Order: sequence, then C-alpha cells, then structure tokens
Amino acid sequence: MKPETKCIAVAPMMDWTDRHCRYFLRLFAPDVLLYTEMITAQAILRGPAESLLRYSPEEHPLAVQLGGSDPVLLAQAARRAADAGYIEINLNCGCPSDRVSAGAFGACLMLDAPRVADCIAAMRAAVPASVPVTVKFRIGVVDRAQEGSAQASAAAMQRFDEADFARLEAFARSMIEAGSAALIVHARKAVLGGLSPHENRTVPPLRFDVVERLRAELAGRVPVIVNGGLRSCESVLAALATSDGVMIGREAYHRPWLLAELQAALHPSSPWRAPGAGEILERMRAYALAETALGTPLQAITRHMLGLMGGRAGARAYRTLMSQQAQRGMPAGILFDRARELCAGSDGMG
Ligand SMILES: Cc1cc2nc3c(=O)[nH]c(=O)nc-3n(C[C@H](O)[C@H](O)[C@H](O)COP(=O)(O)O)c2cc1C
Repeated sequence: MKPETKCIAVAPMMDWTDRHCRYFLRLFAPDVLLYTEMITAQAILRGPAESLLRYSPEEHPLAVQLGGSDPVLLAQAARRAADAGYIEINLNCGCPSDRVSAGAFGACLMLDAPRVADCIAAMRAAVPASVPVTVKFRIGVVDRAQEGSAQASAAAMQRFDEADFARLEAFARSMIEAGSAALIVHARKAVLGGLSPHENRTVPPLRFDVVERLRAELAGRVPVIVNGGLRSCESVLAALATSDGVMIGREAYHRPWLLAELQAALHPSSPWRAPGAGEILERMRAYALAETALGTPLQAITRHMLGLMGGRAGARAYRTLMSQQAQRGMPAGILFDRARELCAGSDGMG
C-alpha cells in the first residue's frame, strides 16, 4: 500500500471531537477521516438521536464511534448511524474510564471477546455492506481487581509477554471473524482501576512493535490502524511504514496544522494547497454566524480553535479572545474580526 492511500484519522475524543470541532479540523485536510466522540447506543435509541448524530456535510469523510455492549441495541444504533450517512461504524473497546467501564463499554469489553464479537456481528448484519464496521481497542487490559495489588497491576502494565500477545491476537482474530473491516489499535495496555483516563493515555508504555507484530501475524486480512502518542509529521510517516494507517488524537486537537502538513506530505501532486490561518478564520466566522443564529453558544465553537495560532506571534492574545471573550458574550462577527487582526501577518501553514 502506498503511503498516500493509507488512512489518516483523527481519533474519537469525548467532549472534544464534537461537530464544531470536526468542522474546524476538516478545513486543515480534505481527506483525513474524522470520528465522532463516542456516542452510546442507549443515548441514540432513548435520547435525542437526531441531535446526537447531527453533522455538517462538509465534515465528511466521517465515521461514528458507538459505545455499548448489547448486540441488539448496538445493531439498532448502528442502523440509525448508517441511515444518517456515517461512512463507518466503530465500536469503542479502548476507553478505560470508570464511568465507561461501569456501563460495560470500552476497554473492559476486551475481557469478554465473545460478547464483543456478538456486538460486531450484529452491527455488521444491521448496516449495508458498503458501510464498514470496525473496532478500536488496546493491546491489552490490566484489571487491578484481578491482579490483587497495586504492584502486581503495575508490573502487568509494564510487561508484554507471549501470553499477552496470544490474547491480543485471539481478540483481533475474533473481531475479524465477526465482521470487523479494520482494527484500530491504541498501542498501550489499559489499566482498569487505579489509573485516571488521563494517566491511561500517558503511563502505560507505548508498544508500536506489538501492533506491528499483530499486523504481520494477520497477514493483510484487514487493515491495522495504529494509534497512540503520534505528534509529528515524521513520526506519523514512520508509523505508516509499518501499518495500514494511523489515528491521531491529542496532537491533532491541539495542533491541527499537523493535519495540513500530513495532507501535503502524503498528496504531493494534488492541486490542494493548505489554507492560511486567515482563510480558516473566514470559514469559521461564516460557520459561527450561522450556528449562533440557531442558538449555539459561540464558545462551543471557539473553544476548539485555540490551536490555530499555536507558536505564532499573538497566540496568547488569540487564545484569550477565543476563550474568555467568547464566554463573555462578544458577538461572533466582532470576535472573528479581532482574531483576523491578531493573525494578520502570520498567515500560512502553522
Ligand atoms: C479528551 C479525550 C477523550 C477521548 N475519548 C475517547 C472516546 O470517546 N473513544 C475512544 O475510543 N477513545 C477516546 N480517547 C482516546 C483517543 O481516541 C486516543 O486513543 C488516545 O488519545 C491516544 O491517541 P493520542 O496519543 O494520539 O492522543 C479520548 C482521548 C482524549 C484525550
């Protein structure tokens, strides 16, 4: 697979990759695959499905991530999402937060592979064949309660032995058998109990080598997308050499210019040119005016845009404007005019 045909995705991130964030990120790269935040199947079926699944057509290519562990509910939610036009339905088996674990979603599901396989198969059967169903998971799960002590849990988190690999490979194979069209692997173990969600994204060691080995063992049966800790264009290009694609989370959110750098690096002969910061502000101004007229608070949009001026002169004043002034009720038109003034002179790719 040539690098330019490999998948670059922005990770699902709760409270971050909402529709306003995705609209903004799309302006940096036309081809990157965007994911929604995790939406639980229950919320879609029992709650305001239309608003939860709502997006702007410009956000495409766009995938939805579902949370849940009930095959029937997940199948129904997947169908709703496919009807809404999402091009991929992903199941979250990688998120370790206690809240998620208590509701039996996320990484704890890796301890019950047959159940996840039932979920994937039910989702697969519920949506058209043209819509891939995929799963996102960790390289392993450490359950503090099963390990018995904090020390044993820490040791299990640090090691990755043959038994770990056998479990990972068996899980991956059962996902493929059930119909998962790709595997998205966060290259860290998840620790259930004892680590906060933030620590679970920083403390367990990153093991890209494990994902690489998994991909080799699976011998091309489905694409394997690697996730975790990718922060530079160089590290992404290096990861693409040994994977079928990458998923980028925090760095894409905090430094969206990375997406433009990757778009340019992977499609050198495309006529696409990275927009300047001024152009992005113009597009977001129009978006914010339309959205605030419908009742969206301005800050719900601008809070995702703090990375636009990162590293440039005026960045601090820009961040203050986009966070505090938006919250204090400055009208969208005035706020974006001021932002344009701050970014004048520092246009071009970040
Ligand atoms: C604020 C935040 C929210 C997240 N929410 C989700 C989520 O809803 N579903 C999920 O699968 N992973 C979630 N994650 C994990 C990311 O998708 C990703 O796997 C993780 O951040 C590692 O990638 P990174 O190092 O590139 O950020 C979240 C991460 C962050 C920082």
